[in-house]
Amino acid sequence: MAEKPEMTEVSEAQIASHWKEEDYYPPTLKFVAQANMTDETIYDRFSLENVPDCFKEYADLLDWYKYWDEILDTSDAPCYKWFKGGLINASYNCVDRHLAKNRNKTAIHFVPELEEERVDHVTYQELWVRVNEFAALLQDFCGLKAGDRVTLHMPMSAELPITMLALCRLGVIHSQVFGGFSGKSCADRIVDSGSEVLITMDAYYRGGKLLDHKIKADEAVEEATKQGQKVKKVLVWQRYNGKYSAETPMVEGRDFFVNDVLKKYYGKRVEPVKMPAEAPLFLMYTSGTTGKPKGCQHGTGGYLAYVTATSKYVQDIHPEDVYWCMADIGWITGHSYIVYGPLALAASTVIYEGIPNYPDAGRCWRIAQDLGVNIFHTAPTAIRALRKIGPDEPAKYNYDFKHMTTVGEPIEPEVWKWYYHVVGKGKAAIVDTWWQTETGGFLCSTLPGIKAMKPGSAGPGMPGIHPIILDDEGKEVPSGEGKAGNICIQNPWPGMFQTIWGDRDRFVRQYFERYCKNPNSKDWRDWPYLTGDAAIMADDGYVRILGRIDDVINVSGHRLGTKELESAALVVEEIAEAAVVPVKHEIKGVEPDMYVSLKPGYEASDEIAKKVQKALINEIGPIAKARKVWIVPDMPKTRSGKIMRRILAAISNGTDVGDTMTLANPEVVEAIKKMA
Ligand code: PRX
Repeated sequence: MAEKPEMTEVSEAQIASHWKEEDYYPPTLKFVAQANMTDETIYDRFSLENVPDCFKEYADLLDWYKYWDEILDTSDAPCYKWFKGGLINASYNCVDRHLAKNRNKTAIHFVPELEEERVDHVTYQELWVRVNEFAALLQDFCGLKAGDRVTLHMPMSAELPITMLALCRLGVIHSQVFGGFSGKSCADRIVDSGSEVLITMDAYYRGGKLLDHKIKADEAVEEATKQGQKVKKVLVWQRYNGKYSAETPMVEGRDFFVNDVLKKYYGKRVEPVKMPAEAPLFLMYTSGTTGKPKGCQHGTGGYLAYVTATSKYVQDIHPEDVYWCMADIGWITGHSYIVYGPLALAASTVIYEGIPNYPDAGRCWRIAQDLGVNIFHTAPTAIRALRKIGPDEPAKYNYDFKHMTTVGEPIEPEVWKWYYHVVGKGKAAIVDTWWQTETGGFLCSTLPGIKAMKPGSAGPGMPGIHPIILDDEGKEVPSGEGKAGNICIQNPWPGMFQTIWGDRDRFVRQYFERYCKNPNSKDWRDWPYLTGDAAIMADDGYVRILGRIDDVINVSGHRLGTKELESAALVVEEIAEAAVVPVKHEIKGVEPDMYVSLKPGYEASDEIAKKVQKALINEIGPIAKARKVWIVPDMPKTRSGKIMRRILAAISNGTDVGDTMTLANPEVVEAIKKMA
């Protein structure tokens, strides 16, 4: 039994800070005794002065065909090339290299949502066989080669990482679209990436319902074709145990069941392609300030080195651990910390098909108990939901977590404490990891074997990540003063994205222009990275993230661009203008409220509100559904015609709207308030 951790005293400096800081929680001695990283000198070794050379230590966790010539090429700053000249393959590092010692170990536990279905335990040997066979199919049947792009629109399944690993074995760039997104969203990503092959699955379970997923592929291909992108082949995996495909309509000559075609490739082996370290590994689309999602391009060697090291030192993954990250592989968390990081370390990674509370609030803890999960990784939105529906459930199950993670949005200290005391049973170390799709891996977090936890606070910059808080003029906001500012990273690191696919200008404009010291400079010191988050740094260097400063809404940890949502509403014929604002929500953190005004000649009706909701679901997916659609007589606007979203947000959240006298139409505010 591990001893109960004692809370340390709150320091004088902290009491003085505006923060009313929560207590520190040190990790247990038992945790520290087994932790992968307990050497505090890592922070010195990864000091700002030692960037970029310090990252060699991370790259050395991987197997290279050829070592790099140059650790960081800045000649095209701020588009960097890490480990230039090196040759590597991600599939080899996540699969082949484990065969010698871990051949019979489980690589993936796939847990179907229905409890009456059996769990699929895929060993490293089997993973190797299946990745090879599928790679052979992709190469021969689809004619794919290094540098091609392939869009994946797959639900949580063992076949999803198998597909990713088969593609990167060939050097093909994968772009996985979150399974819950609509066919239309998938189409936009097919077109942007220029994918000629789409890989999907027939069906999957969610909330106890069998969802037809292939139908979205048909919509996606139709829409992509309209936009001028030819999709030559659609590969359809059959969901685990394959009994649903009989009813799946297939287009002859275009759609193929993988399970049928694969028979020809049984027993085939494909040598991993020796890829340049800087070759793109995958694209991950995310929301930004414009309507068009951007394809964050992640490189092979740098990304893999960074996620492997952070999985080892922050997630504390050892090969004997059973690790469960509840995120979806369709998001960056799933790529980095379900697939690439854990598999590079020969861990057993759990993939769960369904929702955390199906069929009841004990499901998560049963899975943990039955599979022997000892590292658990989830998001505040799930923690809040599980706390609400089953606060006493964890105590009924016999699992033993040594480590837990929270990611994706700020966590309230009282929710953190439930996670710590009830889910972690006071024994597990918690890391609150702050990062982004763009950053590939963690930016701020405690190293759990070294630093104490602080509820509600992500922690200091990771080794080699040097955060700085800047005000609007670019001056540093000193730590410990309780002042918020724009959190930036002063230096490049191997996990960061290389560019936005096909849009270097947008990459530079959005992330670097604001605080760039010299646009012609090739020196990374002149190019601080703007994260788009507001944050406060305390005396101890711990960072507390306050939220986004740009037009992005973070619903249940999923990023949605306000422009994307508004563009979806504008698809409805009757709508003239649309404005989206975030509203606080007990479980999801925030939800979108959609304000729309109508074109002349139309009357407000429930019908129109329903059409708007439907458009949000069709264009983006169910996560985009608005809490409420407000059909307003007009939008509150400045004299220059800009919609004042701040005022709408205040109305939605029931807070003070402030001064409205500078508006062109202050009377509209009163009219909207009456609708609340
Ligand atoms: O606002 C921050 C919030 O999520 C944004 C990144 O979202 P996304 O690219 O979808 O990546 C999610 C997985 C990392 C950030 O800009 N965010 C992420 N993690 C945290 C967070 N906010 C507070 N605390 C966190 N731990």
